[in-house]
Amino acid sequence: MAAVVRPGDEVLILEPAYDLYLPVVELFGGKVVPVALRPEDFSVDWPAVARALSPNTRMLIYNTPHNPSGKIWAPEDLHQLAQLIRDTDILLISDEVYEHIVFDGRAHLSVLAHPELRARSFAVFSFGKTFHATGWRIGYCVAPAALSREFRKVHQYNTFSTFTPAQVALAEFLKTEAHYLELPDFYQERRDRFRQWLSETPFELLPCEGGYFQIVSYAHLSSESDLDYAERLTREVGVATIPLSPFYSQGGDTKKIRFCFAKKYETLEAGIARLHQHQDQLFAP
Ligand SMILES: Cc1ncc(COP(=O)(O)O)c(C=O)c1O
Repeated sequence: MAAVVRPGDEVLILEPAYDLYLPVVELFGGKVVPVALRPEDFSVDWPAVARALSPNTRMLIYNTPHNPSGKIWAPEDLHQLAQLIRDTDILLISDEVYEHIVFDGRAHLSVLAHPELRARSFAVFSFGKTFHATGWRIGYCVAPAALSREFRKVHQYNTFSTFTPAQVALAEFLKTEAHYLELPDFYQERRDRFRQWLSETPFELLPCEGGYFQIVSYAHLSSESDLDYAERLTREVGVATIPLSPFYSQGGDTKKIRFCFAKKYETLEAGIARLHQHQDQLFAP
């Protein structure tokens, strides 16, 4: 974004969106144009995307597998996107940090496999997600030579470099393909068990196709806002979830919360036990 977004540029973001996109667009003087994913299944509303494009649109950011919804894109999505921006010079950030975490035998669809879109994309990946090292904040970006040149001009003065011990550690991990090839099974087992356990609580589970987050609705349990509900769950039940409304630039109230299941089984089990133990608190007071 620092490399290509200039004051007055519009940047389309599909919401709910990873919370880093909006502030970074604004930091560089861009204007965020939010487009809501369909609330029932978080699929892309392509006619709404078409309506949101303007002569000032500089960039579109999308993320698959998706945080927070777990939705993964189908070939038809890339097809629709290519059709919409074919006659423009709109750039893309394809955020693929959860690329190895896809379930039920589905395949991750990278923009790098779509020559037309790849030619205008910054595809970004994270060693943090792949090697269980979130917080290390080390990843990489793949882009065509001209875009990569601009990217690296900024990178030189922004990040400068990545500290050596972490690079050495990741290089060591990269030698063993199994570390990332086994990731779908590793997380699918967690997803399946966690969903099974959660299905025995009063929450309504939404689908989870990839990533390591599970969204549930509590609309039938309480009329509290998602912020209030998540805070109360944290304080009274001892289980921390993330409300969904902060993933929308306009806020609002979704009656949905997000669980993270990238945890030890003991931690997941302890959380579920608390949900059962404090079941009364899941309902509105
Ligand atoms: C969608 C999305 N993109 C990017 C990131 C950042 O990844 P990293 O751990 O490499 O900083 C995250 C998680 O923090 C994320 O959920």
